Amino acid sequence: MTGFNRVLETRVFMEEKLRKMGEDACGALAKAGSLEELNGIRVRFLGKKGELTQILRGMGGLSAQERPRIGQVANEVRSAVENELEARSATLKRLLREQKLRSEGIDVTLPGVPLLRGGKHPLSVVLEEIQEIFLGLGYSIAEGPEVETDYYNFEALNLPKEHPARDMQDTFFVGEEILLRTHTSPVQVRYMERTAPELPVKIIAPGKVYRRDDDATHSPMFSQVEGLAVDRRITFSDLKGTLDLFAREMFGSKTKTRFRPSYFPFTEPSAEVDISCVMCGGNGCRVCSHTGWLEILGSGMVHPRVLEVSGYNSEEVTGFAFGMGVERVAMLKYGIDDMRLLFDNDLRFLRQF
Ligand code: PHE
Repeated sequence: MTGFNRVLETRVFMEEKLRKMGEDACGALAKAGSLEELNGIRVRFLGKKGELTQILRGMGGLSAQERPRIGQVANEVRSAVENELEARSATLKRLLREQKLRSEGIDVTLPGVPLLRGGKHPLSVVLEEIQEIFLGLGYSIAEGPEVETDYYNFEALNLPKEHPARDMQDTFFVGEEILLRTHTSPVQVRYMERTAPELPVKIIAPGKVYRRDDDATHSPMFSQVEGLAVDRRITFSDLKGTLDLFAREMFGSKTKTRFRPSYFPFTEPSAEVDISCVMCGGNGCRVCSHTGWLEILGSGMVHPRVLEVSGYNSEEVTGFAFGMGVERVAMLKYGIDDMRLLFDNDLRFLRQF
């Protein structure tokens, strides 16, 4: 055998050995059942004293020209084995994790628990709408305390101690002179005390109020939005125009308003305001007790005495005020027949809005 042939045969032989080794390694990897086994295979084939190293020892018998060729094949085989090792390792890890979860009784193929999406309470939706309408008319938002003094809730509003109109607003007393406010009207006085004699005053005051009441259309706690506008030459027609516009914005452009004479100690004259029935459009139905009208709020021209106790000169300025029930507006807007539904927090009800 010539020297050339011997070298050639050695080279071919080595290549074959390398490829065979690669196949053996990949075959072993495919069968490996644990990460320890994988590591053993890596050491056996690619380790410092492993099969690859052993085979490459035979390079000594090769000519300088043949060596690069073998080096290249060795590199190919090594990276093929390494890739296979990596892939098998990832698969094994996944299988092991799934096995563990299954043995813990967790079925990863079951659908997940859906996330419930939150939504706004119908009262919040309606309150925000009311606020938007009045903010658009240049009003700002004021607030007052829910635990109020007798003075602001009654006295300053022209309801002295033995006044019979106090009976309509029986409430919860916290002390002799301290009570849960029965309406948002005390905010009128509190606000004007701070701003007098500045003009104009244009506020709405949303908030919770309390009364000794409890049936399908009355709750011991409910919400009102107070409105107050004070300036020179404010007249009853300003009140009418404002509430008429509010009704059309809130309940639809065909909505009509009706002002009925009424009585509140803190307004003079006073009016109860009705809107044409949102259900039947004014023809008469069960909701409006066949009258065609629905009451939504109380209103009137601010009583001169209220202006005076708040620091305004009743000879120079006039104003109007109104107070509406937010639950009532929500019930009319959505056709809800029992106010208590608004406070039960039953999701089957609340999801409808
Ligand atoms: N505060 C009155 C009530 O709760 C409503 C009202 C407010 C009436 C402002 C006139 C002016 O019944």
